[in-house]
Amino acid sequence: MNQLNETDYGTPARVSEKMVSLEIDGVQVTVPAGTSVMRASVEAGINVPKLCATDSLEPFGSCRLCLVEIEKDGRKMKGYPASCTTPCEPGMKVQTQTPKLAEIRRGVMELYISDHPLDCLTCPTNGNCELQDMAGAVGLREVRYDPAGENHLEMKKDESNPYFTYDPSKCIVCNRCVRACEETQGTFALTINGRGFESRVSAGQMESFMESECVSCGACVQACPTATLTEKTVIMLGQAEHSAVTTCAYCGVGCAFKAEMKGNEVVRMVPYKDGKANQGHSCVKGRFAWGYATHKDRILNPMIRKSISDPWREVSWEEALSYAASEFRRIQAKHGKDSIGGITSSRCTNEETYLVQKLVRAAFGNNNVDTCARVCHSPTGYGLKQTLGESAGTQTFESVMHSDVILIMGANPASGHPVFASQIKRRVRQGAKLIVIDPRTTEMVKSPHVQADYHLKLRPGTNTAIITALAHAILSEGLQDERYIDERCDLQSYRDWKEFVLRDDNSPEAMAAITGVPAETVRGAARLYATGGNAAIYYGLGVTEHAQGSTTVIGIANLAMCTGNVGREGVGVNPLRGQNNVQGSCDMGSFPHELPGYRHISDSTVRSQFEQAWGVTLNPEPGLRIPNMFDAALDGSFKGLYCEGEDIVQSDPNTQHVAAALQAMECIVVQDLFLNETAKYAHVFLPGSSFLEKDGTFTNAERRISRVRKVMPAKAGKSDWEVTVALAEALGYPMPYNHPSEIMDEIAALTPSFHGVSYDKLEKLGSIQWPCNEHAPEGTPIMHVGSFIRGKGKFINTQYFATDEKVTQRYPLILTTGRILSQYNVGAQTRRTENSQWHSEDRLEIHPHDAEDRGIREGDWVGVESRAGQTVLRATVTENVQPGVVYTTFHFPESGANVITTDNSDWATNCPEYKVTAVQVLPVTQPSEWQQHYERFNREQLDLLKGEKAAEPLVTK
Ligand code: SF4
Ligand code: SF4
Ligand code: SF4
Ligand code: FES
Repeated sequence: MNQLNETDYGTPARVSEKMVSLEIDGVQVTVPAGTSVMRASVEAGINVPKLCATDSLEPFGSCRLCLVEIEKDGRKMKGYPASCTTPCEPGMKVQTQTPKLAEIRRGVMELYISDHPLDCLTCPTNGNCELQDMAGAVGLREVRYDPAGENHLEMKKDESNPYFTYDPSKCIVCNRCVRACEETQGTFALTINGRGFESRVSAGQMESFMESECVSCGACVQACPTATLTEKTVIMLGQAEHSAVTTCAYCGVGCAFKAEMKGNEVVRMVPYKDGKANQGHSCVKGRFAWGYATHKDRILNPMIRKSISDPWREVSWEEALSYAASEFRRIQAKHGKDSIGGITSSRCTNEETYLVQKLVRAAFGNNNVDTCARVCHSPTGYGLKQTLGESAGTQTFESVMHSDVILIMGANPASGHPVFASQIKRRVRQGAKLIVIDPRTTEMVKSPHVQADYHLKLRPGTNTAIITALAHAILSEGLQDERYIDERCDLQSYRDWKEFVLRDDNSPEAMAAITGVPAETVRGAARLYATGGNAAIYYGLGVTEHAQGSTTVIGIANLAMCTGNVGREGVGVNPLRGQNNVQGSCDMGSFPHELPGYRHISDSTVRSQFEQAWGVTLNPEPGLRIPNMFDAALDGSFKGLYCEGEDIVQSDPNTQHVAAALQAMECIVVQDLFLNETAKYAHVFLPGSSFLEKDGTFTNAERRISRVRKVMPAKAGKSDWEVTVALAEALGYPMPYNHPSEIMDEIAALTPSFHGVSYDKLEKLGSIQWPCNEHAPEGTPIMHVGSFIRGKGKFINTQYFATDEKVTQRYPLILTTGRILSQYNVGAQTRRTENSQWHSEDRLEIHPHDAEDRGIREGDWVGVESRAGQTVLRATVTENVQPGVVYTTFHFPESGANVITTDNSDWATNCPEYKVTAVQVLPVTQPSEWQQHYERFNREQLDLLKGEKAAEPLVTK
């Protein structure tokens, strides 16, 4: 799929029922009303010269290169209108090429070129420069102005951004970058400074890009028609030769990219204009942070060792796989069939995840398979399935452009889902109202041109209380949609729920003491949500990672159902999935109790379909969840683990408990790119492959299945799916697939919501939102239209219970965790890129009052102690957190954020309660005991990686 050159239509497409017909250069053209003359021309195959226009931005009309002659009602229009800013009108006759136009355009180009370095041959964008193209297009042959005249040719470059260069000497002041930063990204970091000849683009207040508000999304670089803003990789490597469309491997937005390549080397990643999730936009991670794929830390040879205090020994694939298989079989022979299991990751493709669960169920012969979605969105699966009937978000991202009210709860899309945050901000700038429910003041509460109408700054751990109080306010003021409820919901459940919700103890007034949010704020937000038009809810891990995570998800669904806000464009209930394939890893049956498509393993009809296809007998009993695996390991009954793409030591709560469990096992097989924290406890290391080295699919938060395309050979010789296939074979269970498309064919055959999915169809449609089957052959953008998947929508009571994790005199503060824009999850990828220039450590955010009470100043080292453990971080004193609450990220292993988090978890799904840990914070002068141990252990393991025996082994197994 070579997509190097895409058509630029000059101005955005317009949607209108009214069509307009006109004539351009003698060609009859019909376009939707509002379409520019420029776009209509390009659609008719007629290119009008342009510089300041591009189809991702609203027209600006500054370069005067796109002038045309127009005749209307038999009369020539005055002057030479700019085709980019002139809308088509019926009966217009447009001339795009006349001698007079050619003369004007040459004059315009001459002025540009007279103040432009004439270094085309050595310019990095030579061959891919619109200025160069336009000089050619208008036939410019000479420049009459004196080159020694006043110009900008000596202006200094800004090289501060690690990924792109700003060379003002090449700027034509077309304003595309400024508009991209405003319209596409919504950061407003750029301005045109100065007037007339003096004017130049400036980041912030004449700062460097790195000092400014710029978040390095790259939209300006993409929009720039010259070499002024250029990717450093392009400067280094030159122009790409070929490209393929693939999907970002970071967050659940699932942005489509053109991987532009030179041979097997990535030159740059360009967000794909036709990507339905991102429509040509991206964030700093997807566009720039792919260098980890070729980082020197990658392990490219399989390795084994008997004990974790032994040096690693590089071996052949055959030896590593047969050693892993023989160890697993030995353990099963000694400790029973159920003594081993597997963990798959939401970073893996659908096909890889499917294979891991198949391997566990069919080759291990048990159901001990789980996924890291356990620790993030398992409550979404439970809560939405119970109420609406399907464990997935209801909308497309695009749907938010039809929302009148946007409610964001427990999520900070500006950091976690940046491209979608840009879309939300765009909608808010168009006038949509915004409600944010979050203990912190995030960028979604207040940023340039965005101000939440309501910020419910609640205490961590009180989500269920606030969601029930919102419902109380709606029902007590009669704002529910009775007609919708009558038609679409289970009425008995509604009556029970209504009675429960209307209890006095659920009122915003009663709940204020618990949540800390004034009743009037809750009532105002409830009124807005219920009566403001189309209202959509977007939520994240701030909802799910709680002891009552599932209850709050249920509460969200209750709220949407009772106001009639499910089942059409602009509304819905939408989990924002953290990692790229959280949705897919859940869909693929990687929970111990469910086969692909969320069907319970105890269902004999479903089980028999898989038994027939796989040629085995399946165990009808659910297997172990991740925390149960750890407990069983410490009890001595769980001894072997196959862990693909997941770093449980860093990402799971209570690190010391996890590490102890791993040390108690006999064979841990880790398949990954790097020697991650979990691999330091492993006995077999199988090299993984990056998203650039394999074929497959990811499913984003919209249920959108998109292709991942192999653009370079697997560096270690095998793609991840091939490794699992080889391991199955070594275990005596052949899985004869030749290509991931065959794995998808099997998934489609066995999973009703995937029946219509195939690689051929993905090729044709670009992407597909499941369910895709006989009833919806091209997929389902919006779910629950007309009726709920479960039939009638079910209301379920959401009784609030305070978490067991109480603040006490000893632990008086609540720690909550989250992520930042430039780093991703455990940081294994982003820490190995220049993204660390923005955030090179995890910090503890603390309110000025709490800091002052403890004598803590900005940047001080502070000890953070909970019932589970202690760590030391540097402090950031900020009012973004409320008094009594502290906050940190978890991207760096040495910070040990999860040394502090506890084993508490969601009552229904065991999703850890990451978001509420009672802690004390005090100034300290040295790293914690755990950190000192970690430093020694880490050093020892890195020595063992080099094949060197540790001088004083810390570990014995
Ligand atoms: S990189 Fe993004 S945020 Fe930075 S100036 Fe360009 S458009 Fe704005
Ligand atoms: S930096 Fe590029 S996009 Fe911005 S004004 Fe200059 S030439 Fe135009
Ligand atoms: S990290 Fe998310 S928002 Fe950023 S480019 Fe990748 S998929 Fe898009
Ligand atoms: S492209 Fe129309 S004025 Fe610049």
